Amino acid sequence: MTACCDPAEYDDVFTSKYARRLAKSLRSSGLDDTATKMADFATAQGLDGATVLEIGGGVGGLHMELLRRGASQATNIELSTAYEGEAARLLAESGLADRVSRRNADVVADPSVAPAADVVVLHRVVCCYPDFPALLGLAADRARRALVFSYPRPRLLTRTETVMENLGYAVRRRTFRTFVHSPDAMLAVLAEHGHTPLDGGQNLRWQYSGTVRTGAEGP
Ligand SMILES: C[S@@+](CC[C@H](N)C(=O)[O-])C[C@H]1O[C@@H](n2cnc3c(N)ncnc32)[C@H](O)[C@@H]1O
Repeated sequence: MTACCDPAEYDDVFTSKYARRLAKSLRSSGLDDTATKMADFATAQGLDGATVLEIGGGVGGLHMELLRRGASQATNIELSTAYEGEAARLLAESGLADRVSRRNADVVADPSVAPAADVVVLHRVVCCYPDFPALLGLAADRARRALVFSYPRPRLLTRTETVMENLGYAVRRRTFRTFVHSPDAMLAVLAEHGHTPLDGGQNLRWQYSGTVRTGAEGP
């Protein structure tokens, strides 16, 4: 499997308009339901003073919430550069700017950008990346204590939506694709990297799994 399609396309797919929509929704309604449950899972693992690594965190609502709940510091690694303006505004408004480090990179192509952290989070990210074993393997290796990630439920609704979305990308001659990866296969990758599932949940479209480290720490 390739590491990625054309990384430059992430800026075309996840645009500043998309970032504005996410920031507006965050200001008016807070975190979405799945992200809130992911934050609850992370909190239950003990957030006081914890460090957080978020991969593909967009405008940053989830790691900002973890900081409000007691985490000490967060790093966000994001492929698209289009979020940075909105993220900076949200950080300034929240007073959390000095506790967040943001970097633009494909974390699989350049793993050196991602520090180890007590808690690693990926919300709606594995579905935007073809090589989930590489992405989740790296995320698990970085997670000293716990990891929580969300993904589309593997059902007719999400599979149909994915096919339609990908048709749209193909028509526009983009190589970017979205994916409904197998939950069992994703959890198997995490198990290979020392993580055991502890909790999870789902709604109509999205599912999340929270795991804890039970094996040796990654490289
Ligand atoms: C659907 S958006 C979700 C953004 C945010 N987590 C949220 O839920 O609002 C998926 C994000 O994952 C990022 N992403 C996907 N693969 C990545 C990788 N290998 N490294 C860094 N970011 C990645 C994309 O750039 C995109 O912004």
